[in-house]
Amino acid sequence: MVELAPSILSADFARLADEVAAAERGGGTVIHVDVMDGHFVPNITLGPPVVKSLRKVTTLPLDCHLMIENPDEFIPEFADAGADWISVHYEACRHLHRTLELIAQHGMQPAVVINPATEVAVLRPILGMVHHVLVMSVNPGFGGQKFIPYSLTKLRQLRELRQELGLSYRIEVDGGVAHDTIVSVVENGGELLVAGNAVFGDGKAEQNARELLDTARK
Ligand code: DX5
Ligand code: ZN
Repeated sequence: MVELAPSILSADFARLADEVAAAERGGGTVIHVDVMDGHFVPNITLGPPVVKSLRKVTTLPLDCHLMIENPDEFIPEFADAGADWISVHYEACRHLHRTLELIAQHGMQPAVVINPATEVAVLRPILGMVHHVLVMSVNPGFGGQKFIPYSLTKLRQLRELRQELGLSYRIEVDGGVAHDTIVSVVENGGELLVAGNAVFGDGKAEQNARELLDTARK
């Protein structure tokens, strides 16, 4: 049930294939790819060309978290590059329903993300359309930030809503997930656990991934 999604944001980009392989050996089962455009968030990272390269070195699902304005414009390119899951921010989509449909039409799993200041309740009308909901537990833009405790309430709300509505979306959490937070994240409903700094921060991705999963599954 609980899966680890190492976020390559904190990896050594010059050794990306090795870093991904190490995280995979340590038990990571989803590769989380942070796409930032310098507009929606105050940082710039990578885009479809890097996704295309990653596609050649792993068979794990590529979980592309788009922190960009106008995501609709780039969905076809991510599909061509080999992305499996695409998550878009509620805050970046003027027509969220349409964007989620567009992602599905391109053969990828659609997902929605909410920032720390956005309530879960706004997602209710589209929850039946998504493969997963991503709760940001830090303000997006950078790795290595501190976990925001109110995120745990959102995880519980999403678990209750899923039950109430009879849906099957998965619950993902991103930001500040590490040894000191991972147990409460899981207890409160986190299932897809994104971790950047805690996996790649010190060059020991395999060991870190294994230890995080051990802690999460205890
Ligand atoms: C932040 C990104 C995260 C980031 C998490 O905007 O969405 O995926 O890599 O990093 P950590 O796990 O270090 O908080
Ligand atoms: Zn992310």
